[in-house]
Amino acid sequence: MKILNFGSLNYDYVYSLEHIVSPGETISSVGLEIFTGGKGLNQSIALAKAGVKVYHGGQVGEDGQLLMERCREFGVECSHVNMVDGKSGHAIIQVDQNGQNSIILYGGSNQKIQKEFIHGVLADFGMGDYILLQNEINNISYIIDKAYEKGMNIILNPSPFNHRIMECDLKKISIFLLNEIEGEQLTCESSPENILVKMIEMFPDAKIVLTLGGKGSLYGDKNHTYSQDIYPVKVVDTTAAGDTFTGFFIASLLKNKGVKEALILAAKASAMAVGKKGAVDSIPYYNEVINVK
Ligand code: RIB
Repeated sequence: MKILNFGSLNYDYVYSLEHIVSPGETISSVGLEIFTGGKGLNQSIALAKAGVKVYHGGQVGEDGQLLMERCREFGVECSHVNMVDGKSGHAIIQVDQNGQNSIILYGGSNQKIQKEFIHGVLADFGMGDYILLQNEINNISYIIDKAYEKGMNIILNPSPFNHRIMECDLKKISIFLLNEIEGEQLTCESSPENILVKMIEMFPDAKIVLTLGGKGSLYGDKNHTYSQDIYPVKVVDTTAAGDTFTGFFIASLLKNKGVKEALILAAKASAMAVGKKGAVDSIPYYNEVINVK
């Protein structure tokens, strides 16, 4: 059984500010740091740091050498990462003094995924393998259809949420990991409990994980529901906390841990990620996570 993560790779330009800029306002940043990130890359590295061999599918631009090197540094298999003309994706991230962020995305090579490339990547995977997707590359609806035809188990983190998610055949998804806002957009419910109930009603064969930021997370499928608290830490930067949660939750399931243990490990790992600046650099290793009390 193999896991393919078909997703974005970005350069993250992280500006530290007193507060997130308001419409019409100009403010000076206190600092600028450049990190590697992207929901796809972050989640691949989180899976790898959690101890799972992961294949990354995606595209970088002519400036993307470092993005591939970062993936390889953590043991992510990159033979399905293509280098194409033009610029790689990037994100402009404002982080305020409370560690809260606000992100502008430039898709670049992440938004130039062609169908032929998708066929080539999927050719190496088959029945029973897993595919993880986020919503920072184009053609995800097509990837879902093709992966489903092959009998792959499809995991979706519908983030960032937009009309493209609604164009996907979501009945084909085996595991959803989404936050409260994405859950509300999908179900039209507003309380976390109602979002979960509605998600289970809409997708009775799926496992659903609803992350609630500082309020922890909820899990549901047609037989079980669980809730998981956060591990409180001083918030430095919330970037990639959700990606860390996703990587550790999925890695734990793939390592045959039960859902409850997977939720605990994911909560510990994401707590460690919010305590550090950056995306990839804030993701902890499995051995660090299991020592959190
Ligand atoms: O989830 C965090 C990621 O979102 C950042 O690394 C940034 O690249 C954006 O894609």
